Formats: sequence, structure tokens, C-alpha cells
Amino acid sequence: MTRSFEKAGVVGLGTMGAGIAEVLARGGLAVIGVEADPAALERGRGHLESSTAKALAKGKLSEAERMEILGRVSFTTSLEDLADADLVIEAIPEVMEFKRALFTDLDRICKPSAVLATNTSSLSVTEIAATTTRPGQVVGMHFFNPAPVMKLVEVIHTVITEDGLAEEVAALARRLGKTPVTVGDRAGFVVNRLLLAYLNHAAVLLESCLATRDGIDAAMRLGVGLPMGPFALLDLIGLDTSYEVLSVLFQESRDRRHAPAPILRELVTAGLLGRKSGGGFYRGEGAGSSPPAGKPSVNSVAVLGEGAEELAAQLSAAGFKTAPPEDADVVLALSRNPVVELAVKLPSPERLVGLHLVGDKVAEVASTVLTSSEAVRAVEGLVRITGRTPVLCKDRAEFVVDALLYPYLNDAVRMLDSGYAGVEDIDAAMKLGCGYPAGPFEMLDELGLKTVRDGLRALYAEYREPSFAPAPLLDQLVTAGVRSIRDLP
Ligand code: 3HC
Repeated sequence: MTRSFEKAGVVGLGTMGAGIAEVLARGGLAVIGVEADPAALERGRGHLESSTAKALAKGKLSEAERMEILGRVSFTTSLEDLADADLVIEAIPEVMEFKRALFTDLDRICKPSAVLATNTSSLSVTEIAATTTRPGQVVGMHFFNPAPVMKLVEVIHTVITEDGLAEEVAALARRLGKTPVTVGDRAGFVVNRLLLAYLNHAAVLLESCLATRDGIDAAMRLGVGLPMGPFALLDLIGLDTSYEVLSVLFQESRDRRHAPAPILRELVTAGLLGRKSGGGFYRGEGAGSSPPAGKPSVNSVAVLGEGAEELAAQLSAAGFKTAPPEDADVVLALSRNPVVELAVKLPSPERLVGLHLVGDKVAEVASTVLTSSEAVRAVEGLVRITGRTPVLCKDRAEFVVDALLYPYLNDAVRMLDSGYAGVEDIDAAMKLGCGYPAGPFEMLDELGLKTVRDGLRALYAEYREPSFAPAPLLDQLVTAGVRSIRDLP
């Protein structure tokens, strides 16, 4: 039987639920939005009205189109109003007891042919399905925040999902203008499993004072081209949601990198949940860049390492003298590895600063335990003169960007090797779900498998974190001289 989805219910009209209701209404479906009480219902209506008002103001919708979209949505506090819906999407908080209770009610209320979907970020769809008398008609439909913008929908089928239903739900996602990626039921699915481990890692690095919040965000945004840095994104997702997703991931994986960073627990307990509560990692000031520094108070510089000539020429053109390391006011050691060993060989190790150029917008400025604050300030200024954003960090393996990026790429290789999802689906999921400029396998191709494998080895040697060890598949590909995972037979 091919179903026609014309009338859909959305239960829970928070940020995600309201966004999903908007997507469905824009796609031409009649939508019934359900909330627990009148105040929450009004907030949900408000989300929809303001989101479509913004689209109107930007000229993306005409007033008539906006009215048509809003006219397709009705609001109620009674689940009974979902009796004749063809599809109901649940978007309530990530608490299994709440979801189980809701699905028991929906199963009783909705017509026998209705499909019940959960927008859960990480909870077991199978467990939710098993609370109903129609487990074959229960799927995951996982949207991404902001739902009207992000193009991905993960469609989750379980071992008991009826044959063909996932394809029908995927077809609906396409009709709504989204790209579906269909996968089985594992904690975190594709995106959250890869994304949350990376976001949590950023929080762990922040707590270890490797770099600042703004430094890490700038590094990932400008250095890798991600639309948002990890802390701005955690605030968008919600720190409570992030904490819950990580807890579920940890329960399944027992991987320490999924254990929520203590700072997340602290912020959540303090009621700082991110954008939805008015503050999280950022509290009103917004993600921004630091003000430009004045001209550095140094006369002579020494530049060492690969690419030294080019940088030295740039600094000479800006009026700085180049000198041998023994005589220079500051020594810039271009390196992708820690520089303390180099520093101790100099007569004045306090003048040496590690410099790692990331893309053409960022330079990581690494200070060793011996580096003076004057040298760091001077190099910060020199970096700005070269047109890059300086990201100050400690002298640790792979500094900031690669330390965050390589384990994420390693996780993607492990996911591929586990057979959970293929190269194209994983790449598409990260690009369309999170706005990444490239998928993990595209990034691996661009960086080179060997570079990433060697970087992971360095990270493992430094932090002894078991999951930083290169995935066996990655190691084997490098050993076999394979240049791209796509070349696998
Ligand atoms: N609702 C509707 N539309 C919105 C919106 C919202 N909340 N926020 C932004 N938009 C629209 C804007 O109107 C604009 O539309 P236009 O291009 O048609 O004019 C467009 O999105 C771009 O917005 P802005 O110009 O204001 O801002 P940016 O260019 O900085 O983009 C962003 C904002 C789309 C949020 C971008 O920063 C981004 O892609 N960030 C990554 C978001 C992400 O990773 N989401 C996934 C999180 S994981 C998740 O949700 C899963 C869960 O289970 C945890």
C-alpha cells in the first residue's frame, strides 16, 4: 500500500517542533500542532508566526503565501484531535518515559493506518516503537535545527519497521524539499554520533584551557569553514539536549569522548541552556572576533620551519627586520607539532612561539610553558598584519583545529567500517545536516589519509585517549598506499 501523507500532527512545539510544523505546512500538508498547555501552545504559534514573518521581511514569502502556510496549521492542547492524521511527528523533550507514554496515547488515538514518527535525537526508536501495537508503523524522522533551513532528514527504520515504509517517509521528506538519509537504529544515528563527540571534545579542550571559547570557535569557523564554531552551535542545539544526547551515546558506546564534559552539566544546572534560555556558552554578547591589536612592539623577527621564507618576506614587507633566532626579538616556529623541544635549544626560549597556519584565514599561536606573554602578544599582532586571525593555544599535539578535526574524521571512518552508513550518505548527512562545507570523506581526500593518520597517532601519543588511535581501516589504507577511501574495491 502506498500511503498519502496529507494531514500531519506535530506534538511538541518547541524550537524543533515548530520548525517541523512550518516545514510540513510549507510542503502543503494540513498540520495539527499539539502542546501540553495553552501557554506552550501560544509560544509554539509565536515561533511559527515570527519565523514566517522573517521570511516575509526578507522577500522569501509573499503575504498571501505566508497566510496560506499559517492557515494550514491548527493548534490544540488535545491529542484526540490527531485521530485522523496520516502521520504524527513527536518532538517532545528527550526523556524516554515521556516518549513511551506519548506513543501509547498516540497508538490508542490515531487511526490504524497512521504512521507515528519520532524526532528523537538519539533515543532508541525501537524502544519507542515497541510501546505501540503498531511497531511496524513507527519510524524516526530526525530534523536539524533550524528545521526550516537545514536540508537533511535522517529517516530511521528499526528491525520491525514494515517493508517499504522508510522509502515512503523518505519520499515525503523529498516532497518537503529535504534530502533523506535512511539508516538503522543506533544511538545518535549518523550526524549526532559524529557531531556531538566533536562538540564535547571542544568543551573538554576548553576546560583544559587549551584555548579560549572565542579562539576555538574562530578556529573552526575560519580555519575549517564550518558555519558556526562548536560553542555557538552547542548554544543553538541547546546544552540540555546536547547533554542528553551525549549521555545516551555514552551509555551505548562507553567511549569516554561521549561522556558529557563537566562544563555542560554545570551550565545546564545553572539554567544556562543556550539560545533558548537566553544564554549558554555565550551570554548576550554573541560570537564575535577580538579587536585588532596595535602594531607589535618588536623590531626583529626570526621565522623557522616549512614556509618560513614566505612569511618572513611578508613581515619584511610590513617593516620588520629578519634576524637569526639568537638575535631576534621573537622567533616564529612554523610547525604542525609542539615546539617546546625547539624552544629549549635557543638561548632565549621565552621568545619562541609556535605558529600553525590553517587555511588562509587562521594562524594558531602556540605558547610553550617557557614562552613570555610579551612574545605571544607580539606574534598575535604580527599574525594580524598578515591578514590572519590569531588563535592562541597551548603547545599541544595538533594544537586546536586538527585536534578537533582528526578524531571526527576517524569516527567517520569507523562508522563506515562498521557498515552503518556509506561514504555518500555520511558526507551528505554532515553537509546537509550541519552546513559543513565538505563531508568527512571529502575532507579526508583533501587533507590526505596519511596526514590524518599521522595526526591521530600524535594525538594518541599525547593524550592516550583510546579512540584517538587511527581506525584500523584508515591505518590499512595508508599502509596499502590507497589515496582515497572511495578507491576501496
Ligand atoms: N528559522 C528559519 N530560518 C532561519 C533560522 C530559523 N531559526 N535561522 C536562520 N534562518 C534562515 C535565515 O532566514 C536565512 O535565510 P535566507 O538565506 O533565505 O535569507 C538563512 O537561514 C541563513 O541565515 P542567516 O543569514 O541569518 O545566518 P547564517 O548564514 O549565519 O546561517 C545557520 C545560520 C543556517 C544557522 C548556519 O549558521 C548553520 O548552518 N549553522 C549550523 C547549524 C547546524 O549545525 N545545525 C544542526 C545542529 S544538530 C541538530 O539539530 C540535531 C539535534 O538532534 C541535536
